[in-house]
Amino acid sequence: MRMSQFFLPVLKDTPAEAQIVSHRLMLRAGMIRQSSAGIYSWLPLGFRVLKKIEQIVREEQDATGAQELLMPTIQPADLWRESGRYDDYGKEMLRITDRHDRDMLFGPTNEEVITDIFRGSIRSYRQLPRNLYHIQWKFRDEVRPRFGIMRGREFLMKDNYSFDLDKDAARHSYNKMFVAYLRTFDRLGLKAIPMVADTGPIGGDMSHEFIVLADTGESEVYCHADYLDFTVPDAATDYESDLSPIIEHWTSRYAATDEKHDAARFEAEVPSDRRIATRGIEVGHIFYFGSNYSKPMGATVMGADGVEVPVEMGSYGIGVSRLVGAIIEASHDDDGIIWPASVAPFHVGLINLKVGDADCDRTVLEIYETLRRAGVEVLLDDSDGRAGGKFATMDLIGLPWQIIVGPRGLKSGVVEVKERRTGVRQELSIEAAVATVAGVTEA
Ligand SMILES: Nc1ncnc2c1ncn2[C@@H]1O[C@H](COP(=O)(O)OP(=O)(O)O)[C@@H](O)[C@H]1O
Ligand SMILES: [Mg+2]
Repeated sequence: MRMSQFFLPVLKDTPAEAQIVSHRLMLRAGMIRQSSAGIYSWLPLGFRVLKKIEQIVREEQDATGAQELLMPTIQPADLWRESGRYDDYGKEMLRITDRHDRDMLFGPTNEEVITDIFRGSIRSYRQLPRNLYHIQWKFRDEVRPRFGIMRGREFLMKDNYSFDLDKDAARHSYNKMFVAYLRTFDRLGLKAIPMVADTGPIGGDMSHEFIVLADTGESEVYCHADYLDFTVPDAATDYESDLSPIIEHWTSRYAATDEKHDAARFEAEVPSDRRIATRGIEVGHIFYFGSNYSKPMGATVMGADGVEVPVEMGSYGIGVSRLVGAIIEASHDDDGIIWPASVAPFHVGLINLKVGDADCDRTVLEIYETLRRAGVEVLLDDSDGRAGGKFATMDLIGLPWQIIVGPRGLKSGVVEVKERRTGVRQELSIEAAVATVAGVTEA
């Protein structure tokens, strides 16, 4: 992509309305624009990141055997009357009346719709287990939308729903999602810690929030520092095997949000030099809720013994759009964003320091084409601006690598390669520069 053709409306000044760094940087880097409170347009740079995150989330869901579908954003109120949630949900639900005076709503979540789909087609325990997911826009009329896309009113969520015959099977479905979440956040370059969450009237231990530590986070969190060094299950993990040793390991230390925090236990179980008390961003939430929806909505299956039972369910959410902000909170410096390679909007920023200089123009084009042929995504700064401004923009948008081509270097046959994360600069031959940046495209 050539910068001269790319829609990248970067801002010089820091927008006054943005309170946290990720919001400031997303606005400055031309990733998003607010449309109304808590509702944003995703501009090309931001959209590329959003799509990459979505794809990683999808791949890790598919690896577990979960299947993707797509449910509507507009739902009929009647389904929510059946589950009993229509009145309970309150003002966060955006209620709509259609031209025939039917009550509709913009879905804040999809338990009712998926349960309706399930009960219409599944009758026997032989058709279980099932796990269905989609990646879809939700609307919640939050009282205080804030921090840009972190707490929006409209936001992109991956949500899935598992269906099992009994609680043991439901636990296995839960464990699969637990492992998939560890892998997903790791691939996104994040350390997300599973913390016990409220299970409400269901009770038990099958609800976890996955939290990224950040002092700008909305929740207060407490955990053992050991979690920061735990290893994540690898790609070869067999999801049909017994996953409980992994879950036991990942729940073996203290970790809780303020809702579930027990100061006495925290002090008793965690040595003082290993205690982390900070804030965190909830990027995912997994939850087993048994027959809460299947019972009132009549989603039953016939067991092997011929007895009809309500299906056991769980739901699992990931805040796909919130993750864009969470990654920036976790990875930036004073100059701008530092994208992990796996989600970077482009892998390389190629800067031509002297547009119009025959040598520079030719070399830049040669590097651009070579990288593109190798499947490396390049953003070519072919603008006529000052060097300082070009460097600042590249640092701001945070691509993992920069290649800087100027007339002085070319005289001795070298270009400059800068790694954004470390700031390390090297003068390299064109071939070596290409090899260096191309080597890291596989995150
Ligand atoms: N208003 C919001 N803006 C952006 N992301 C959100 C918002 N609400 C929830 N999410 C994301 O969706 C995930 C699943 O949502 P859920 O657990 O139902 O939300 P909550 O914990 O706010 O009730 C959350 O872990 C979070 O990452
Ligand atoms: Mg939650």
